Amino acid sequence: MEASATSKLLVSDIASIVDHVPSNYVRPISDRPNLSEIETSGESIPLIDLQELHGPNRADIIQQFSLACASYGFFQIKNHGVPEKTIERMMTVAREFFRQPESERVKHYSADTKKTTRLSTSFNVGSEKVSNWRDFLRLHCLPIEDFVNEWPSSPVSFREVTAEYATSVRALVLVLLEAISESLGLAKDSVSNTLGKHGQHMALNYYPPCPQPDLTFGLPGHKDPNLITVLLQDEVSGLQVFKDGKWIAVRPVPNTFIVNMGDQMQVISNDKYKSVLHRAVVNSDKERISIPTFYCPSLEAVVGPQQELINEEEESPAVYRSFKYAEYYEKFWDRALATESCIDLFKASKT
Ligand code: OGA
Ligand code: NI
Repeated sequence: MEASATSKLLVSDIASIVDHVPSNYVRPISDRPNLSEIETSGESIPLIDLQELHGPNRADIIQQFSLACASYGFFQIKNHGVPEKTIERMMTVAREFFRQPESERVKHYSADTKKTTRLSTSFNVGSEKVSNWRDFLRLHCLPIEDFVNEWPSSPVSFREVTAEYATSVRALVLVLLEAISESLGLAKDSVSNTLGKHGQHMALNYYPPCPQPDLTFGLPGHKDPNLITVLLQDEVSGLQVFKDGKWIAVRPVPNTFIVNMGDQMQVISNDKYKSVLHRAVVNSDKERISIPTFYCPSLEAVVGPQQELINEEEESPAVYRSFKYAEYYEKFWDRALATESCIDLFKASKT
């Protein structure tokens, strides 16, 4: 069995023929999920109701953003304005995409991390030592008309459904960025204005059932390199967030999104809002789909701590130097999630 498994490009097509995890997916003992030790019923991340963001209680909600961003870096949102139907259609078309025959899926396969539309597996097959139990389709989606024609055309509704979803999530992100700016004591458009032409990428993550989920990861611990991530997940749990020295499982709640701070938010906020370590584990009986939207600066944008959050005379000097986002993004992909984050490489030099 293993002989045929090694000739497969995608883990979906390995998962369907093996009864054990092939050796290139097995993590060293010191780096395994320890699934039996994870809190699944205790503390979870905050849930913010966006309903009142545009009413008289805005200040309260902004206060909830401050707390959630500063102490968790991760929260769930409800009444977010993305129609239920749009979400349902997106999830369905993602499931249909990954259910297509191998011959149809592999047409989109590429290991080139620079390609703007590609199906791949693990994280970066070109640079990593141990593989991850995940396939993913990555898409650029802003402006949509620049990319839609390279997206898969099968299933037939793929482009239309994904375009509608991406547009709706973008509108939500703009609302979130205003609230986050305010929660940092900045003008509403402050964070948005630092991004140059905004960038928006999506991933459709597919985690097949795994015969030995204790030996491998869907995605090992990492921090997102972008500004802010808005994650849609199906009803199967798998996401875990690192908080106060332990991993907490995030239980899926219908009709919510999970929002997390990425490295660029940490830079722009000058360490007020930290990018938080998270990972995805797999399980033995259910496939899992998650759809993160990675909102980011344009590659040419110069990112650095917001002036208003720097005070060189007091306790808040600039923690990071300014850099082009392209420089950061390239480092992220090269490092194969081998170490948790590359943000330390962008610290202001201490003179
Ligand atoms: C990611 C990610 C988590 C998940 O794609 O960066 O963290 O639950 N995904 O799939
Ligand atoms: Ni992530």
